[in-house]
Amino acid sequence: MSENGKSDFDDMVDAIQQEIEADESSTFSRKVIEEFRDPKNAGRMGDADAVGIITGPCGDTMEFYLNIQDSRVADILFMTDGCGSTIACGSMLTQLVQDKYIEEVEKITDTDLQDALDGLPKENMHCAKLAVDTLMEALRNWHTKGDGSPTNH
Ligand code: FES
Repeated sequence: MSENGKSDFDDMVDAIQQEIEADESSTFSRKVIEEFRDPKNAGRMGDADAVGIITGPCGDTMEFYLNIQDSRVADILFMTDGCGSTIACGSMLTQLVQDKYIEEVEKITDTDLQDALDGLPKENMHCAKLAVDTLMEALRNWHTKGDGSPTNH
């Protein structure tokens, strides 16, 4: 490929990128785009105390992995194969619950998550619900294992 060919290609990629960005910013809040571009706490944990994995009705899967110490979230990671807003939801939710007591975490709703992201388009609200449902599933599993018993601490 010639030098010109390469720069034409680069220009084309830039143009597409700009188009996508314009489209995203008309649909998503700045916060959602920031989280999607630079997600925090993405990954899986081999030695997690609590794991929740749910595939939503849209076919996307969300996973949460938590280390829990003294009834607080000591560490949390998420993983998803979902869309940009699902990634943003996972990332923001990990930040919302880091270091919080499990009791507080269990009160978080998908509306809280949407608020933290400065809102989501109507068609993406289910991404926030999938994220919160999956986190609650992880905590339910943790309680079921018996680790959540207050007598353990
Ligand atoms: Fe279904 Fe994002 S589109 S979770």
